[in-house]
Amino acid sequence: MNVVCVGAGYVGTVTAAAFAVLGHSVTLIDIDRNKLEAIRRGVSPIYEPYLSEIIGRCADRSLFADSDYGKVAEAEAVFICVGTPSKADSTADLVYVRGAAEQIGKHLDPKRYTVIVNKSTVPVGTSDLVASILEDASGLTHGVNFDVVSNPEFLREGYAVEDVFYPDRIVIGTGSDRAENVMKALYAPLLTRASYAELGDLLPYLKTDDKKPPVWLRTTPQSSELIKYASNAFLAVKISYINEMARLCDALGASVKEVAAGMGLDSRIGGKFLQVSSGWSGSCFPKDTAELLATSRKYGCEQQVVAAAVEANFDMHLYCVQKLQARLKTMQGKRIGVLGLTFKPNTDDVRKTQASVILRKLSDMGCHVKAHDPQGMELFAKLHPDLAIEYCDTPESTTSGADAILLLTDWSLYLEMDWENAGGAMRRRYILDTRNALDAGRMREWGWTYEGLGI
Ligand code: UDX
Ligand code: UDX
Repeated sequence: MNVVCVGAGYVGTVTAAAFAVLGHSVTLIDIDRNKLEAIRRGVSPIYEPYLSEIIGRCADRSLFADSDYGKVAEAEAVFICVGTPSKADSTADLVYVRGAAEQIGKHLDPKRYTVIVNKSTVPVGTSDLVASILEDASGLTHGVNFDVVSNPEFLREGYAVEDVFYPDRIVIGTGSDRAENVMKALYAPLLTRASYAELGDLLPYLKTDDKKPPVWLRTTPQSSELIKYASNAFLAVKISYINEMARLCDALGASVKEVAAGMGLDSRIGGKFLQVSSGWSGSCFPKDTAELLATSRKYGCEQQVVAAAVEANFDMHLYCVQKLQARLKTMQGKRIGVLGLTFKPNTDDVRKTQASVILRKLSDMGCHVKAHDPQGMELFAKLHPDLAIEYCDTPESTTSGADAILLLTDWSLYLEMDWENAGGAMRRRYILDTRNALDAGRMREWGWTYEGLGI
């Protein structure tokens, strides 16, 4: 099938590459010429494991990059994957979605039927909004010449390629059987996995086909749009919950690792997303919880549980600073080595990362911060030009002269470091491991004053 994806970001590029490698002919449209160039060269414009390998295989064969919307006229399905950042009032800014819809509308072929798919995370009601923009721009009729479908994305950065080939569910929000049939044909390779074997050499984990096929769930557009927000907010609540439990464990002398293990064995709760951290962050949870709260307030249905989870999350960022402070006492002039600036490993995404809150607080308290991240330093420095941080080429160099190491992101690089010998040049060998990822016993054997969260 002919497919167009508008927006070569984290979601658009992964979606387009997956459809292209599974047999569709896909054009990825973006305003950023550097991204288009990268895709044409067969390279991913973003850091995401395995993505360059896939793009390399289908670039200029089944995956094309363009700044022009001309291919919309030939497409059976057009995906809107542009960003939806937060506005000052926390609601989602739909300026890029509106712009993309208008351009798509201008290029629809009146002689053909097209499905326009909202893949971006958009507030409930955006399917209707996009349909009316398309009607105005094209002079065509929704439900006759085209349909708008909500099809939210549940990709996790760092695992996006695995998630795109093995989704738990495919949610399609539409009132139209015709549109659903187009979507079913489009997703057929993912539902049947017929051509997965051919990809085995490309992606090692695709060889083990032991995961259940995805559930196909057709809903109204409104439910589909809300499923995305409700899911992300629920996951955020789950993490805030275990993080608060970690603080209670610190107070009571219990271990949150054991508590999480015990809770997770209950199949009604499940063990996933019970991993302690300095708080959740990233380009989705903060923005999506904010939009959900703003909308629910507007409609008089405040989501108090989600509001509390957001507050508890901010407190968790500060709790990490408090733990450092309790150990170091005065913070003025203290040197802190920070490991990890991205919101989690295997991504270069530093938008709304917990590191930005924590590092700002440390700077405000007069600390000298040395930081390292294998992927995120350049973007972090660009986003926070006012933060006086010394960026280090190696994780080891953050330790020299440091009073404390703060491990924020559990990159494997940090877990595999030679901790026995690292830290010789520190003023004191103290580490706060906010992911409880290192082996506490070994660290103590090697002379570290080791602290985690809730252990
Ligand atoms: C996606 C979703 O769209 C967002 O709603 C969801 O919450 C997170 O995932 P993401 O892929 O992270 O967003 O966005 P981003 O990486 O910012 O990429 C958006 C792309 O769209 C950029 O490459 C940008 O250049 C492009 N764009 C934006 C256009 O091509 N045209 C525009 O008018 C605006
Ligand atoms: C999330 C959703 O998981 C995904 O379905 C949606 O499409 C986009 O938003 P993502 O933001 O890429 O994905 O990351 P995710 O893996 O969910 O992690 C979000 C944050 O929670 C990170 O800061 C992560 O470190 C933190 N986290 C996650 C924890 O602190 N503990 C956990 O147990 C899991």
